[in-house]
Amino acid sequence: MEKNEMKHLLDRAKETQKNAYSPYSKFSVGAALLAKNGKIYVGCNVENSSFTPTCCAERVAVFSAVAYGQREFSAIAIVGDTTPCMPCGVCRQVLSEFCDNSMPIIFEGKDGEPQSISLGELLPHSFKL
Ligand code: THU
Repeated sequence: MEKNEMKHLLDRAKETQKNAYSPYSKFSVGAALLAKNGKIYVGCNVENSSFTPTCCAERVAVFSAVAYGQREFSAIAIVGDTTPCMPCGVCRQVLSEFCDNSMPIIFEGKDGEPQSISLGELLPHSFKL
């Protein structure tokens, strides 16, 4: 994936991070998921006073894309209040339902430059029914 495309996806994630509803953790996350049809589906974390119903930014993006009929994805960019912000274990499993092990997970390095790691590196030997 080209650096400019990675930057664009990170920008969309940053823009969405502003909408995070995170009054409890005060940690905002934004995600931008690129579908194979070229469209981008975004998500932010949405917390709840009962804590357990909280949903991560990545899952909001995946579930929204699926609701729009998309099931094939090329990349996801994630930004959080700390850099880099890596997807939690639950979100890795959700991504593995729809994405190949080779799918790049894009994040901002400490130098502010886009970097990527594959889903398979983050979740090797993932569960498949
Ligand atoms: N969070 C995400 O949105 N994505 C992750 O991959 C890690 C954690 C959210 C959940 C919660 O609202 C806050 O960050 C602190 O855990």
